[in-house]
Amino acid sequence: MDNAMQPEDTPELRALYEGFERNHMNPLWTQTAGLMPQHPKPKAVPYVWRWADLLPMAEQSGDLVPVGRGGERRAIGLANPGLAPHAYCTPTLWCAIQYLLPGENAPEHRHSQNAFRFVVEGEGVWTVVNGDPVRMSRGDLLLTPGWSFHGHHNVATEPMAWIDGLDIPFSQQMDVGFFE
Ligand SMILES: [Fe+2]
Repeated sequence: MDNAMQPEDTPELRALYEGFERNHMNPLWTQTAGLMPQHPKPKAVPYVWRWADLLPMAEQSGDLVPVGRGGERRAIGLANPGLAPHAYCTPTLWCAIQYLLPGENAPEHRHSQNAFRFVVEGEGVWTVVNGDPVRMSRGDLLLTPGWSFHGHHNVATEPMAWIDGLDIPFSQQMDVGFFE
């Protein structure tokens, strides 16, 4: 904010500001530009994750991290460099490459976050959503609404990889987050 718009710097004003700080208060007139910018100031930056780079590392994860020991999902988040320390892809979206070996099962669970899957590689995985099996093939987009039970089962002879997207950052902003 233009300094000409600010009150005169006096001992009394400084004492007032110290009182604000002690009481966890923050006057609008010192922070309008941050709260209400004239133009968007996104922290996320343009970044390209190349499938040719992602897939070999997902394959290596398949060798080194059993799906049961990496949590319930072998999913590797795509962390936008501008949003560190959060591993968010965009301000409202968490994305990951998920990799499942033949015969592996990612057990059923459910959470408040909504999810989509976009299949990039292979076929032969069934995602079971609330008891209904949904076949996954290259190019498919699957939607898993929040609080729907879902699990992934690779009954094929080849590994399979896809992109998961969940509205985790948005859910955190809204203070929702149930999981079972
Ligand atoms: Fe899930």
